[in-house]
Amino acid sequence: LSEELVASQEQQQDMESLPVPSVQAMVAATGEADVPPRYLRPAEAVTGIVNGEGEAQIPIIDYRRLLLELDRRGEESARLHQACQEWGFFQLINHSVPDDVVEGMKANIQQFFQLPAETKKLFAQERGQLEGYGQLFVVSEDQKLDWADMLYLYTQPPESRNTKFWPDQPVNFRSTLDRYSGAVKEIADSLLATMAENLGLKQEVIADRCVGGVQSVRMNYYPPCAQADKVIGFSPHSDADLLTLVLQVNHVQGLQIKRNGSWFPVRPVEGALIVNIGDIFEIFTNGRYRSIEHRAVVDPKEERLSSAAFHSPNIDATIGPLKELTADEDEAYKTVDHENFMRLFFATKLEGKSFLDRMKLK
Ligand code: OGA
Ligand code: NI
Repeated sequence: LSEELVASQEQQQDMESLPVPSVQAMVAATGEADVPPRYLRPAEAVTGIVNGEGEAQIPIIDYRRLLLELDRRGEESARLHQACQEWGFFQLINHSVPDDVVEGMKANIQQFFQLPAETKKLFAQERGQLEGYGQLFVVSEDQKLDWADMLYLYTQPPESRNTKFWPDQPVNFRSTLDRYSGAVKEIADSLLATMAENLGLKQEVIADRCVGGVQSVRMNYYPPCAQADKVIGFSPHSDADLLTLVLQVNHVQGLQIKRNGSWFPVRPVEGALIVNIGDIFEIFTNGRYRSIEHRAVVDPKEERLSSAAFHSPNIDATIGPLKELTADEDEAYKTVDHENFMRLFFATKLEGKSFLDRMKLK
């Protein structure tokens, strides 16, 4: 892996010379003007086969019921286990994030992306860094770009916060994100506890690795595009973390998951959080729970906004198959330290599950 790391650092340096793509150029391109070539994809890359029939919806899990079952596995925990094994994605209803916090997050994200470009640029990513307003996974001058802007922030543990990237307008952006971050982290920890039990593990096996666990929040803005069928909002990828919780910010849909070789559209249920298994969970469980490839498509007329909270173990935790699960089987993934794992992930172009493939042992 060390060779790959050197390569990734070299790429990181190349990246410093890249301009942060400006949303202004994209917005200009949404009218009659042509879409800049760096955003145009071959037709088959955008459409793929979209499967809207058959299965109606990803599983829905009731958080309130799960909490009642925390110390005695019941029906809802069993449904969660099935959702994790068969889908890797589910919608969580009756979650514990207070309504005013959810509504506050939605309003703040919408208002932030509406700010003038000069104001947003005050929070722009800096050379070679991930946090701030801009784009991620841009590793070469010639790669295609996603039709989106984002704001990426570390939110937990609190001492990892870099508040200079935290917008101070809208005025309550920071306090709302602080409350949202805490509430969502609590849900992630509690889901992980049930998942551990579902896998026959003591809760501590995962919980100990998540003491001081890392949470980051990525807020996504997908402008409308007159040529929506020729661009992609978010390239196909799986998330690198343990568990991601996504808030759909406005009513425009666009998230699709890869299922049985087709793209399956997620239809968000009002008030639900969309939860998915990330690569670290797949590695921890030696493949029992798999991370699922997903992407976001763009709407021709309306903007779309979403917010993803990524949850990872603490920075000292080693990323590799859990010994408790591999007593009687071969390890299918490499073991690496957390920092190098993340560095490599962000230095790689998003391309389905290709990053995770590099973690696989032959
Ligand atoms: C992500 C992601 C999808 C969406 O941020 O990792 O997959 O719906 N977002 O915006
Ligand atoms: Ni994702």
